[in-house]
Amino acid sequence: MPTPGSIDVPYARYASVAELPEADQALVKAAHEAALRAYAPYSKFYVGAALRTTDGRMVTGNNQENASFPAGTCAERTALHAVMAQDPATVVETMAVIVPQVTGDRPVSPCGICRQALLEQELRQGRKPLRLLMAVHNGPVYELRTASLLLPLYFDASFLNG
Ligand code: THU
Repeated sequence: MPTPGSIDVPYARYASVAELPEADQALVKAAHEAALRAYAPYSKFYVGAALRTTDGRMVTGNNQENASFPAGTCAERTALHAVMAQDPATVVETMAVIVPQVTGDRPVSPCGICRQALLEQELRQGRKPLRLLMAVHNGPVYELRTASLLLPLYFDASFLNG
Protein backbone atom coordinates (compact mmCIF):
# COMPACT_ATOMS: atom_id res chain seq x y z
CA MET A 1 0.00 0.00 0.00
CA PRO A 2 1.31 3.48 -0.81
CA THR A 3 1.76 5.98 1.97
CA PRO A 4 -0.27 9.10 1.25
CA GLY A 5 1.41 12.47 1.62
CA SER A 6 0.77 16.08 0.84
CA ILE A 7 2.73 19.28 0.55
CA ASP A 8 1.29 22.47 1.95
CA VAL A 9 1.91 25.77 0.15
CA PRO A 10 1.22 28.54 2.66
CA TYR A 11 0.61 32.01 1.27
CA ALA A 12 -0.70 35.35 2.42
CA ARG A 13 -3.32 37.34 0.57
CA TYR A 14 -3.55 41.11 0.75
CA ALA A 15 -6.82 42.58 -0.50
CA SER A 16 -4.94 45.34 -2.30
CA VAL A 17 -1.47 46.75 -2.79
CA ALA A 18 -2.32 49.50 -0.28
CA GLU A 19 -2.14 46.89 2.48
CA LEU A 20 1.53 46.21 1.78
CA PRO A 21 4.43 48.02 3.47
CA GLU A 22 5.54 51.06 1.49
CA ALA A 23 8.71 49.46 0.12
CA ASP A 24 6.64 46.61 -1.32
CA GLN A 25 4.15 49.03 -2.82
CA ALA A 26 7.05 50.74 -4.58
CA LEU A 27 8.22 47.37 -5.88
CA VAL A 28 4.80 46.52 -7.33
CA LYS A 29 4.66 49.98 -8.93
CA ALA A 30 8.10 49.47 -10.48
CA ALA A 31 7.01 46.06 -11.82
CA HIS A 32 3.89 47.65 -13.31
CA GLU A 33 5.96 50.35 -15.02
CA ALA A 34 8.39 47.73 -16.31
CA ALA A 35 5.49 45.81 -17.86
CA LEU A 36 4.66 48.88 -19.91
CA ARG A 37 8.15 48.68 -21.44
CA ALA A 38 7.93 44.96 -22.28
CA TYR A 39 8.69 43.74 -25.78
CA ALA A 40 5.78 41.40 -26.42
CA PRO A 41 4.58 41.98 -29.99
CA TYR A 42 3.65 38.30 -30.43
CA SER A 43 1.71 37.43 -27.28
CA LYS A 44 0.72 41.01 -26.40
CA PHE A 45 0.98 39.78 -22.83
CA TYR A 46 3.01 42.43 -21.05
CA VAL A 47 4.70 41.16 -17.90
CA GLY A 48 6.68 43.22 -15.40
CA ALA A 49 8.94 42.12 -12.57
CA ALA A 50 10.85 44.12 -9.99
CA LEU A 51 13.22 42.80 -7.39
CA ARG A 52 14.70 44.31 -4.27
CA THR A 53 18.08 43.21 -3.01
CA THR A 54 19.00 42.94 0.66
CA ASP A 55 21.23 45.98 0.23
CA GLY A 56 18.31 48.03 -1.02
CA ARG A 57 18.79 48.05 -4.78
CA MET A 58 15.77 47.73 -7.06
CA VAL A 59 16.08 46.09 -10.50
CA THR A 60 13.29 45.61 -13.00
CA GLY A 61 12.67 43.29 -15.93
CA ASN A 62 10.01 42.54 -18.49
CA ASN A 63 9.39 39.91 -21.10
CA GLN A 64 11.50 40.14 -24.24
CA GLU A 65 10.00 38.13 -27.08
CA ASN A 66 11.41 36.95 -30.38
CA ALA A 67 10.00 35.93 -33.75
CA SER A 68 11.59 32.59 -32.95
CA PHE A 69 9.29 32.15 -29.97
CA PRO A 70 11.46 29.98 -27.68
CA ALA A 71 14.22 32.59 -27.85
CA GLY A 72 12.11 34.99 -25.79
CA THR A 73 12.63 35.43 -22.07
CA CYS A 74 10.24 36.09 -19.22
CA ALA A 75 10.16 39.20 -17.06
CA GLU A 76 11.28 37.37 -13.92
CA ARG A 77 14.45 35.93 -15.46
CA THR A 78 15.23 39.18 -17.24
CA ALA A 79 15.31 40.99 -13.88
CA LEU A 80 17.05 38.18 -12.02
CA HIS A 81 19.79 37.62 -14.58
CA ALA A 82 20.36 41.34 -15.05
CA VAL A 83 21.17 41.83 -11.38
CA MET A 84 23.19 38.63 -11.04
CA ALA A 85 25.24 39.50 -14.11
CA GLN A 86 26.15 42.83 -12.52
CA ASP A 87 26.86 41.55 -9.03
CA PRO A 88 27.07 37.78 -8.47
CA ALA A 89 27.00 38.21 -4.69
CA THR A 90 23.54 39.77 -4.76
CA VAL A 91 20.94 38.49 -2.33
CA VAL A 92 17.45 38.96 -3.73
CA GLU A 93 15.02 39.62 -0.91
CA THR A 94 11.72 40.11 -2.76
CA MET A 95 10.47 39.96 -6.32
CA ALA A 96 7.14 41.44 -7.43
CA VAL A 97 5.37 40.32 -10.60
CA ILE A 98 2.39 41.89 -12.33
CA VAL A 99 0.61 41.79 -15.66
CA PRO A 100 -1.39 45.02 -15.71
CA GLN A 101 -3.89 43.74 -18.28
CA VAL A 102 -4.90 40.77 -16.09
CA THR A 103 -7.77 41.57 -13.77
CA GLY A 104 -9.81 39.55 -11.31
CA ASP A 105 -8.67 37.65 -8.26
CA ARG A 106 -5.94 35.45 -9.63
CA PRO A 107 -2.50 36.97 -10.18
CA VAL A 108 -0.13 35.72 -12.84
CA SER A 109 2.49 33.52 -11.25
CA PRO A 110 5.92 32.63 -12.63
CA CYS A 111 6.16 29.92 -15.29
CA GLY A 112 7.90 26.63 -14.60
CA ILE A 113 11.27 27.70 -16.00
CA CYS A 114 11.22 30.89 -13.93
CA ARG A 115 10.34 28.88 -10.83
CA GLN A 116 13.43 26.78 -11.43
CA ALA A 117 15.54 29.93 -11.90
CA LEU A 118 14.16 31.57 -8.76
CA LEU A 119 14.79 28.41 -6.80
CA GLU A 120 18.37 28.24 -8.06
CA GLN A 121 18.82 31.83 -6.90
CA GLU A 122 17.48 31.02 -3.45
CA LEU A 123 19.92 28.12 -3.12
CA ARG A 124 22.74 30.25 -4.57
CA GLN A 125 22.17 32.89 -1.91
CA GLY A 126 22.52 30.32 0.85
CA ARG A 127 18.80 29.64 1.11
CA LYS A 128 18.10 33.17 2.23
CA PRO A 129 14.43 33.44 1.35
CA LEU A 130 13.52 34.96 -1.98
CA ARG A 131 10.05 36.26 -1.26
CA LEU A 132 7.47 36.65 -4.02
CA LEU A 133 4.67 39.14 -4.47
CA MET A 134 2.18 38.35 -7.22
CA ALA A 135 -0.09 41.27 -7.82
CA VAL A 136 -3.28 41.97 -9.74
CA HIS A 137 -3.76 45.55 -10.94
CA ASN A 138 -6.54 47.05 -8.78
CA GLY A 139 -6.80 43.67 -7.10
CA PRO A 140 -5.21 41.42 -4.52
CA VAL A 141 -1.58 40.62 -3.89
CA TYR A 142 -0.46 37.10 -3.02
CA GLU A 143 2.73 36.61 -1.06
CA LEU A 144 4.90 33.51 -0.88
CA ARG A 145 7.61 33.87 1.72
CA THR A 146 10.14 31.72 -0.16
CA ALA A 147 10.67 30.72 -3.79
CA SER A 148 10.95 27.05 -2.85
CA LEU A 149 7.20 27.09 -2.16
CA LEU A 150 6.67 27.64 -5.88
CA LEU A 151 8.32 24.39 -6.75
CA PRO A 152 7.53 21.48 -4.47
CA LEU A 153 9.70 18.38 -5.06
CA TYR A 154 12.17 20.56 -6.92
CA PHE A 155 15.18 19.43 -8.88
CA ASP A 156 18.48 20.88 -7.75
CA ALA A 157 22.23 20.31 -7.94
CA SER A 158 22.17 17.73 -5.16
CA PHE A 159 20.96 15.14 -7.69
CA LEU A 160 23.72 15.77 -10.19
CA ASN A 161 26.68 14.00 -8.63
CA GLY A 162 25.13 10.73 -7.76
N1 THU B 1 5.72 35.47 -19.29
C1 THU B 1 6.48 36.12 -18.38
O1 THU B 1 7.27 37.01 -18.71
N2 THU B 1 6.36 35.78 -17.08
C2 THU B 1 5.42 34.92 -16.59
O2 THU B 1 5.35 34.72 -15.40
C3 THU B 1 4.50 34.26 -17.52
C4 THU B 1 4.82 34.40 -18.96
C5 THU B 1 5.79 35.90 -20.69
C6 THU B 1 6.44 34.95 -21.65
C7 THU B 1 5.82 35.41 -22.95
O3 THU B 1 6.53 36.52 -23.44
C8 THU B 1 4.43 35.88 -22.57
O4 THU B 1 4.49 36.13 -21.18
C9 THU B 1 3.32 34.90 -22.87
O5 THU B 1 3.59 33.65 -22.34
